[in-house]
Amino acid sequence: MISKALKKARAFEVKNRPLALPQQPAFHVTGGTGWINDPNGFAPYRGEYHLFFQYHPYAVDCGPMHWGHMKTRDFIRWERLPAALAPDMDYDRDGCFSGGAVELEDGRHLLMYTGVRNRRREDGVVQAFQTQCIAVGDGVDYEKLDGNPVIDASSLPEGGSTRDFRDPKIWREDGRYWAVIGNRPADGSGSVLLYESEDALRWRFVSVLASCRGRYGSMWECPDFFPLDGKHVLVVSPQEMQAEGLEFHPGNGNLCLIGTYDRANYRLVRESVQTIDYGLDFYAPQTLLTMDGRRVMIAWMQNWDTAACKPRELRFFGQMTLPRELSIREGRLCQNPIRELERYRGARIEYRRVPVRGETRLKGICGRCLDMTVTLYPGDGRETWRWFLMRLAQDGEHFTSVLYLPETGTIRVDRSHSGFPYDIVNVREFPVHEREGRLKLRVILDRYSLELFVNDGEQAASLTLYTPQEAAGIGFSSDATVYIDVEKYEIAAD
Ligand code: FRU
Repeated sequence: MISKALKKARAFEVKNRPLALPQQPAFHVTGGTGWINDPNGFAPYRGEYHLFFQYHPYAVDCGPMHWGHMKTRDFIRWERLPAALAPDMDYDRDGCFSGGAVELEDGRHLLMYTGVRNRRREDGVVQAFQTQCIAVGDGVDYEKLDGNPVIDASSLPEGGSTRDFRDPKIWREDGRYWAVIGNRPADGSGSVLLYESEDALRWRFVSVLASCRGRYGSMWECPDFFPLDGKHVLVVSPQEMQAEGLEFHPGNGNLCLIGTYDRANYRLVRESVQTIDYGLDFYAPQTLLTMDGRRVMIAWMQNWDTAACKPRELRFFGQMTLPRELSIREGRLCQNPIRELERYRGARIEYRRVPVRGETRLKGICGRCLDMTVTLYPGDGRETWRWFLMRLAQDGEHFTSVLYLPETGTIRVDRSHSGFPYDIVNVREFPVHEREGRLKLRVILDRYSLELFVNDGEQAASLTLYTPQEAAGIGFSSDATVYIDVEKYEIAAD
């Protein structure tokens, strides 16, 4: 049965979406209209890839959470489907929060999400009760289970809290269903709980898979756990991070723990911890395994701390990153743009060994929807150089810059001059490494975003930008002669 609340959301979508179309990114997911945050239920279903998301269709501000819905075959072109879930039951009346999806053995599509119910205490403090709920459907319409919630306080480990108990990510393995769920135990730190089930309906607590042990923020939101290149990776989005060097910035962060999975005790034995994306806008990533065996990640390309600052003229707020293929190289998580993007490449322009000093512009190197790789290497070694600058989305007054500082071995991305009138965090710096004296910078630009991939995915840095679309110039400069190879493709995806 489709509830009144869901009917209302679907009718609103039909009426409002056509108006929103001209002002959309060309190949990044948005809600079409309204607000989105975390990707949810990112998983294959009946030969296609489905993506749901946290969604408030009626305004560009965060509100009672619905699940929006899209699907794709190639991760670039997406088909919009009607909203899948609305907060319409007593146990989720304050929001259908994040979760995952899986195809059941009988061919039905199961969504597992966090139902939120708030209660105002006499002293005015709002208490949240978060439980895990299920809806089952056919890829378009979903029925919430009569037996919801399927996981509640009764199957929390000692000290676990229902105030911060959310974001189940579900998968099938060895003939059983598994789910990881974020929790904040009594000491205020973050942990990830592991549950298992025979039928995806009745669940049993298994273990505390990992916990933050007083470091790496507090509540760990949106966990995901998967094998990759002989290791296991746990992805989390911690709240209240403290800065650590240039690796972790304060506030809502994103990180992965890489290690081995101790299957006897159901624990992750961690070997290393790193930031996933070093840019300004990246949160709540979720992954799937493609039908041809690739681990692909998508994330909300936004930062909670700056989510109140938005361009009022746009009818959408919140975008997803481009889906990325993951791998582990030299013990680190690497990520590269999904290879299907290459099918949408238009005309290719290439330059080899261009000397750069002062401001350099290259004919044909411009645009706002493009895939461009710039390989940078020093000249004959006689000159020392202190910086190399690439300016994108540039006109007389605007630019967004990528600055490489070889002496500190860092890149600084800066969108202060992107025309966005807010005093928010606009600059981020992070460490990179030259490989055989070269640095490779791949830039994916869409109308409202920039994603940078360094050295074939060793580092990624994402940011949103709202520079006028006419600002499409690209320029290079350096304080001493360096050389660049440039390969640029326009992307024609809409
Ligand atoms: C992460 C998050 C999740 C929650 C959702 C609510 O961005 O806070 O923990 O389920 O957003 O929209």
